Amino acid sequence: MLLKKVQDYNQSHLETWGIIDNMDGKKLYIVMVGLPARGKSTIASKLRENLVRDGIKTRIFNNGDLRRKLSPRDTSYPEFYNPDNRHGAALREKIALINIRRALDYLRGPGHVAVLDATNVSLKRRKKTAEMLTDHPILYIECINDDEEILKASIDRKVTLPEFNHLGREAATRSFKQRINYYQTIYASLKTERNFIRLDSLYNKISHEEIRDNVPYYDLIRDFLVTDTVKNLFLIRHGETHFNLQDRIGGDSGLTETGMVQAKALARHFANKKIPVIFTSKKRRTIQTAVPIMHVQENCSIIPLMEFNEINSGVCECMSYEEIRDNMPHVYSARQNAKYNYIYPGGEGYISMKERVDRGIKKALYLSSNSQNIMIIGHRAVNRMILSHFLYRRKEDVPYIYVPQDKFYHIVATQNKKLFQLRLYDL
Ligand code: F6P
Repeated sequence: MLLKKVQDYNQSHLETWGIIDNMDGKKLYIVMVGLPARGKSTIASKLRENLVRDGIKTRIFNNGDLRRKLSPRDTSYPEFYNPDNRHGAALREKIALINIRRALDYLRGPGHVAVLDATNVSLKRRKKTAEMLTDHPILYIECINDDEEILKASIDRKVTLPEFNHLGREAATRSFKQRINYYQTIYASLKTERNFIRLDSLYNKISHEEIRDNVPYYDLIRDFLVTDTVKNLFLIRHGETHFNLQDRIGGDSGLTETGMVQAKALARHFANKKIPVIFTSKKRRTIQTAVPIMHVQENCSIIPLMEFNEINSGVCECMSYEEIRDNMPHVYSARQNAKYNYIYPGGEGYISMKERVDRGIKKALYLSSNSQNIMIIGHRAVNRMILSHFLYRRKEDVPYIYVPQDKFYHIVATQNKKLFQLRLYDL
């Protein structure tokens, strides 16, 4: 009995680590669908990471990568994507067929999941794919995201790719937008496919789902798609400000000397970590804290988001807590009695900030795509809301979460690891 238990235990552990292949017969094609810059490749590669971690052999077949290898320069012009351009269409078709065949071979061999990462927006392309891949189920994942700001930021990032090096920034942006327009003309949303998920890729929200076959790994894949995952989120509160010294709230005051020392200490602390983007609010104090950190990084930019602005305290902006207590006792005590739900007259409350802060988190995660590290520099109330997004707290406890200025939070939230650590940095 005991021996059997030990055997079972060993078996399950070896499977977990992929040492014993127990997935035979459970094979799946995933076909990504969506216009360019909708987060398909980010989702595909994070999904692969999760599947591989579970011992599921997964490979991505990306048409863009193949195209860039075959003829990078000729294919960065928008006319290449004009559906009426026969030469362009033929080359794109050829690339698609190569990858479909590779996916087929991969699943005939040792692979469990083959992901076809391309736009796949036309019915014609999907029909061809389905005709060729008949040995295992196909799950289509359509990524939708029409948030103007996110789209702009994604395009800004895309045009820094080497394939656009020979064009100026503006010409590259125009070219990429025209490419999207061409794809738009042949776009057919998923409808008749046997198994599909339509996903709002910014909000990780499934808007339509149709599953007719027995799709292997479906729970794991679905769960991944609807979960916010962060590998390393460094959540920092801005350094000390002149208003902090006077106990005043809100406003847009700058850092004190101590605040600058804190920012520089943070820069030293993170110097050996790769931080490609620092998200801040639009307030001076968060940007001033980010600048020294950015300067010691090799390739780093600051993205200020209004979603991370501090709670707007309306009629109480720029007042000290003492002044509020003396001059507006009704406001002071009402807030004390129900801090989460209380909304400052003419301003916000924790309760009304939630939506915008959540939106900021989604934007930050989306814009950092596959980075190992994400940094957000926010404020006391905003950071409490961000913390509570990843770590459950009863609502009434959220406005009291400890958010000091001489420490930062390190958060990991993936499908199989949750870490939440308050860490000190050397001043
Ligand atoms: O004092 C700094 C500050 O960020 C203010 O700008 C803000 O109103 C306050 O903290 C939020 O904390 P609490 O909700 O505890 O008043």
